Parts: sequence; C-alpha cells; structure tokens
Amino acid sequence: MSLLRLRSRPRRNRNDAVVRAFHSETHLGVQHFIYPLFIHGGEVDVPIGSMPGCSRLSPAGLLREVERARAVGIGAVVLFPAIDDALKTPDGRESYNAAGLIPRTIAALKERWPELVVVTDVALDPYSSDGHDGIVGPDGRILNDVTVEALCRQAVAQARAGADVIAPSDMMDGRVGAIRDALDQEGFTGVSILAYTAKYASAFYGPFREALDSAPRSGDKKTYQMDPANSREALRELALDEAEGADMVMVKPAGPYLDVIRRVREATTLPVAAYQVSGEYAMLKAASERGWLDERRVVMESLVAIRRAGADVILSYFARQVGEWLAGERR
Ligand code: PBG
Repeated sequence: MSLLRLRSRPRRNRNDAVVRAFHSETHLGVQHFIYPLFIHGGEVDVPIGSMPGCSRLSPAGLLREVERARAVGIGAVVLFPAIDDALKTPDGRESYNAAGLIPRTIAALKERWPELVVVTDVALDPYSSDGHDGIVGPDGRILNDVTVEALCRQAVAQARAGADVIAPSDMMDGRVGAIRDALDQEGFTGVSILAYTAKYASAFYGPFREALDSAPRSGDKKTYQMDPANSREALRELALDEAEGADMVMVKPAGPYLDVIRRVREATTLPVAAYQVSGEYAMLKAASERGWLDERRVVMESLVAIRRAGADVILSYFARQVGEWLAGERR
C-alpha cells in the first residue's frame, strides 16, 4: 500500500480530546438558556401527552420546577398560561387582567427569587375564544391595530407585575414600537423587549397548542406568521423590529430554520434568540423513548447546532435537563 502524499491531514487536529478542545468553536452553557414553562391555575401538575417530561404546572409545581432549574444554574424562564375556557373571549381581555394567572405567577416568582429573569409571552391566543393571536374581524381576518392596543395593555400588566422581558409572539405589524411606547409611558423604561422577529407558520407548534388548548378554532395563522419558504422576509421583519426598539430578536422554530438564524445573526448587532419549539422537543423525545436515538447526545447536538448557526440564547424545553447533564460533567 502506498501512502498518500498529503501535507495537510485535518484529522491530526482531531487526534485526541485535548487537541480537539483547542479549536472547539461553539460553547453551550446554562447561561445560554431560557426555560419555557406551562402553567395553569389547577392544584395538580398535569402531564402533557405529546411532550413527555413537561406538564401544565400548578402554582406549587412551578415553584418546584424553577427551584430545580435554578439549582443547575438556569437563570431565566418564560411562562405560557393555560386559561380556563370560561375566561376566553373574542377580544382576549383576560390577557390584561392585573389579577390574572400570569401577573399572579410573575409576582410569586419575583417574590421568591428577585434575581430570576422572568420573560412573558405577549399574544392573545391563550385568552382568545377563537384561538388566534389577535382579534378576529367580521370577515374572519385578524385585525392588526386593535389587536396591538390589547397587546400593549397585556405588556403593561405583565411589566407592572414584575416581568423583566416582554416577548411578543403575535406577529402583528407595529407591535414592538407600540409596546415600547406603552411601557415607557408607564415608567417601565428598564423592561426589555424580546421580539419574535421571524416566527413561521409552523406545524412544529402542534404539541404546544395541545398543551395550552390554544389551537385556532378556524383557519390558520398564515396571515400573520411567516411562510416557511421565505428567508428574505425575515430581514424585513428584523429591520422593522430594530427600528421599533427591540432589545433582542428571535427566530422560531430553531432546528429547521438554522439558515434563517444565520442570516439574522449576520444582519444585526442585537442578541439573537432561537426557539427550539414543542414539535422539535416531541420528535427528539419520541425517538429517544423508542431507543432509536441516544437522547442526551442528540439533544446536545441539536442545541450546539442552534448556537453554531448564530443564536446567543435558546428557548428550549430541555433547558433544565441540559443543566443537569452539564452539572454532571463538571463533577
Ligand atoms: C403563540 C405561541 C406559540 C408558541 C409560542 N407562542 C404557538 C403558535 O403560534 O401557535 C409555540 C411554541 C412551541 O411550539 O413550543 N403566541
């Protein structure tokens, strides 16, 4: 056998773990996560069938779960409420009830852990009897400007309860600027906005809608969420969100949209977030439960890939689990 005459053999830089670590480009730590949690007003935690390991948490269950997450270094959570059907209306007015589930929960979290970063979702779908992120007009279309008014009231109610970061996921036009103005007017100049900048009309949100019972009662979300075929449009949304005062921008879903994360990363100096959504979680969990994938390795790989694409921070249902794995490595 004759040797290949190669001066360059990339494999030498992969010879052993020490050398590989010299030039490992992407790092994943607990500081890179926001942990999404589902809550409800009930007394017990209710497991979510399509998201093994996740539950609609009771008030006590939430405190237990946040305690566990904090114990491994997770510093931020984002809350999603399951609202009683009796409180759902066409205008979603429960979304700005100062005594509602979300404001009560924010207050409870901040009282126990003042330094915990609490992120809140702004959109009407959990509160809407139509299951849409905005108010449905007579012709079935989603009304933009009147929805933005409701979103501003929702954001102010959340800030008043102690939210640190307001995250509008509704995709209405002009909502970032309007929410910024509304917050500032009420004196909340220190409350940040994490804009869902490029949020796609994705089938990967299915388990989330089951978790919250928030699926649209009719139609779909394609008149406000983006077409999965597009990425230039993400840059248009980015330019608007930046001009309107967003502090951080987000791409969602994450795994199937790594190219969009990269494009947004290259086009902005703002921190970029990516949301590994419920369907991505469900796929990885289901295959792992069947023994078809090695859960720990595949989850870590999926998250490193999202970071490598350009995300600074990741919203992931695996956050606490990843924290536990990383803590185990350090011991
Ligand atoms: C709705 C909202 C959705 C998610 C976060 N906020 C669902 C939707 O737009 O229908 C999805 C998150 C996930 O799937 O994990 N405002």
